[in-house]
Amino acid sequence: RARIPLVAGNWKMNFDHLEATYFVQKLAWLLRDAHFDFKRCEVTLMPSFTSLRSVQVLVQADKLKITYGAQSVSVTNQGAFTGDVSADMLARLGCSYVIVGHSERRKYHPEDDANIVDQVRAVLTAGMQPILCVGESMQERRKGIALDYAVGQVHDVTRDLSDEEASRLVIAYEPVWAIGTGLVATPQNAQDAALAIRNDLTESFGSDVAQSVRILYGGSVSSRNAVELISEPDVDGFLIGGASLDPEELAKICRLT
Ligand code: G3H
Repeated sequence: RARIPLVAGNWKMNFDHLEATYFVQKLAWLLRDAHFDFKRCEVTLMPSFTSLRSVQVLVQADKLKITYGAQSVSVTNQGAFTGDVSADMLARLGCSYVIVGHSERRKYHPEDDANIVDQVRAVLTAGMQPILCVGESMQERRKGIALDYAVGQVHDVTRDLSDEEASRLVIAYEPVWAIGTGLVATPQNAQDAALAIRNDLTESFGSDVAQSVRILYGGSVSSRNAVELISEPDVDGFLIGGASLDPEELAKICRLT
């Protein structure tokens, strides 16, 4: 595989800054102990905004190879937007990635496609990589339109990007019915969706870009299903919720990826 896999832990609204610091130290220790090769697989963590500075200080002080990012971002750069955090602020904290369009954000916040496009642009402009989340609900899967739905979400958000911008995307295929439910997609489901998304990227941006974009799978990933999923040629890693809250489990998934 030409693409280096990415294991991304989305902590969602868990861990304060002290717990985050402890977790990163423990994960780094577990991976060092296992002689984990970061050139073979990248590991990134998405803490809450309140923990990012602590994670940055630790990563710099201990020269850790773990990268980190944020779970969302404002579409504006500065000004009277109470409660928002800008892409520049995140970039200055050393963030490599920002999750954009997670289904929980689409559900609980007014994040529609237009807003998600603006977030993607803000992240790219600030020099970071968006992890764009897409995926169908059970309703679309039952109707037999799961792939079209996920591909459509990618297409709607990426259609105005340049080739260079598109090449910096990471896409996470996360069927909503698999998130936090223990119902993992089959490796074939994950591969079919990743391939359909990659084919659409090929049509829009050409083969070089499409082949360079990492497409992750997310939804009830654990150390019990990671090997089968990563064996699929178009699945380039994972976006992990629940299982990323246990350092031993996350280290295990990293080793298996
Ligand atoms: O961002 C992560 C996904 O929502 C998956 O969460 O691994 O708990 O199913 P989960």
